Amino acid sequence: GLYGVVLAGGTGTRLWPLSRAGHPKFLHPLTGTEASLLQATVARLDLLTPMDRVFVVTGVAHAAAVSRQLDTIPDSNVLVEPSPRDSCAAIALAAAVIARRDPDAIMGSFASDHLIADKERFTEVIKQAMLGAQKGLLMTLGITPTRPETGYGYLQCGGESGDGPVLAVEEFKEKPTYDVAEGYVKSGNYLWNAGMFVWRADAFLAELSRQQPQLAAGVSRIAAAWESPEREEVLGEVWPTLPRISVDYAVMEGAAAVGRVGTVRGDFGWNDVGDFHTLGAVLAADPSGNVIVGREISQKSGVLLRETQDLVVVPTEGRLVAAMGVRDLVIVDTPDAVLVIPRERAQEVKHLVDELKELG
Ligand code: GDD
Ligand code: MG
Repeated sequence: GLYGVVLAGGTGTRLWPLSRAGHPKFLHPLTGTEASLLQATVARLDLLTPMDRVFVVTGVAHAAAVSRQLDTIPDSNVLVEPSPRDSCAAIALAAAVIARRDPDAIMGSFASDHLIADKERFTEVIKQAMLGAQKGLLMTLGITPTRPETGYGYLQCGGESGDGPVLAVEEFKEKPTYDVAEGYVKSGNYLWNAGMFVWRADAFLAELSRQQPQLAAGVSRIAAAWESPEREEVLGEVWPTLPRISVDYAVMEGAAAVGRVGTVRGDFGWNDVGDFHTLGAVLAADPSGNVIVGREISQKSGVLLRETQDLVVVPTEGRLVAAMGVRDLVIVDTPDAVLVIPRERAQEVKHLVDELKELG
């Protein structure tokens, strides 16, 4: 069976002011359903593995909220990081803890902020990826690209690896420039990296030792102390020394360069809801293209729109948002901040957040 690892870190700054340091996007029910993105991510694994094999890695600031939202998994499966050190440290910690428990473990690592339309197909694809993982490959899920997105990783796919749907990955390029991404998409040989990985925990840890020896040694020390009274002490000493780097740069690019990465096509309706524009694109719109986030389109109480087109509106509790004669805008109301930005510039919210941070 599979061990599931769900990464619940990062603050989703491009979804500010809805997503906050104190209440990051994975805790929100962004799609208008009752479940948060995190709850949906965990629930999506239930055809693949029993819930006591699902781990969540999260920061100390969110651990209580995460445990509260996930009453189906044991509290001891919530691995708490003293500080954010990016995705490589988070995945490596989970891999080291899981490998000690089960040396033959295959683990799947899942981001907690993706939307997936077809759960049955997702389950099938993960099972295919497990076949590649069984052979020692670090498996990624690949998505057919639709635009030269520079915030994603790209997989250059070679031929079939001889294992049915498993494709060999010849190059893994994280976050290329726009021109490079455009060339990739035109060539037709590249897939997006979905940011979900399946591998034998020991195969990942071996690649980590080769490419990131300090990180590998650090998480191995922490994992050795995990079940002992020294856990907090070792964690407090070692964690802050770990390099702050994402798994894509730290391990995947280098592993692909030596032929250790494979992929399967994730044709299950994948969306990374990174900003309000993409969020608007995946939710149901009214006949004029307006999307109201966080509630059913039929109950428009709290939002009054006249002659508007293609708006993305996020209302807040107990206040009306009214708009007239405007189009292609994002309007986000929260108790202490209001955002208005053109939809096509929704990515740039992160610059506003940077500026706010500078202002303190
Ligand atoms: N626990 C924990 N701690 N999780 C973290 C941390 C951390 O310090 N930093 C990031 N994560 C989690 C995020 O919550 C998310 O689930 C996942 O790791 C990926 O991190 P992002 O910061 O969202 O990465 P990205 O979007 O820039 O890029 C990744 O995802 C793309 C697809 O959405 C890469 O894997 C790209 O190659 C990929 O295309
Ligand atoms: Mg992301």
